Amino acid sequence: MPFIVFEGGEGSGKSTQGALLAGYLRGKGFPVLETREPGGTPLAEDIRKVFKSVPQSGDIPTPRTELLLVMAARSQHIEKTIRPALKRNEWIICDRFLDSSYIYQGFRGGLDKQEIDRVAAPVLGDLQPDLTFVLRVSSETAQSRVSARPGTELDRLDTELLKDASLHSAFEALTTSSTPYPDGRVPKRVLIDGNGPLETVQKRILDALRKHFGSIVQ
Ligand code: TMP
Repeated sequence: MPFIVFEGGEGSGKSTQGALLAGYLRGKGFPVLETREPGGTPLAEDIRKVFKSVPQSGDIPTPRTELLLVMAARSQHIEKTIRPALKRNEWIICDRFLDSSYIYQGFRGGLDKQEIDRVAAPVLGDLQPDLTFVLRVSSETAQSRVSARPGTELDRLDTELLKDASLHSAFEALTTSSTPYPDGRVPKRVLIDGNGPLETVQKRILDALRKHFGSIVQ
């Protein structure tokens, strides 16, 4: 069954839209696994905590350390969660995947794509998402969505990244420039306008899904 990824900057609505899509597919009778990166197994979730926390020591990870942390989590996630779910014939809806490493450790952290690909190649093997939705929103939409989250305490990354509007354009550029995966193949990415009411954005996603998968999701 298909492996679907949602990507986008902070406040793009990707997690909400991923959950809505999972609900839609379950309503059609499909088995669906919802997962996320970094995370998706107990160990990978522990790595996520380290990755996202503000170290009391002030010893903030460098971009290369970040890459190794997210890739360690991804390795565990792929072996223990994603590949078994694919074998069980489930749909997988994953909140972030390799494109986030290209944007956060590459574009933002300054690491070369070649370096990211060298680390990612053995972790991914022949695995590619069947479809990646890249949600693009204006900075105003992103800010208002994040500040509307109830009881949210922003962590180290969220606070910094929300201010960084260039990340939203970097995700768009990654899509329009057809950036290849480490094995040289270009994954199917669809840019979705994430501005506007949830239902409107969901409709754009479902239209793209039907276009891509045809009759199985009608
Ligand atoms: P979020 O999914 O709740 O937005 O948090 C995940 C954070 O981790 C987000 O700031 C992006 C960051 N991240 C990376 O820096 N590299 C990666 O490869 C992934 C998957 C996430």
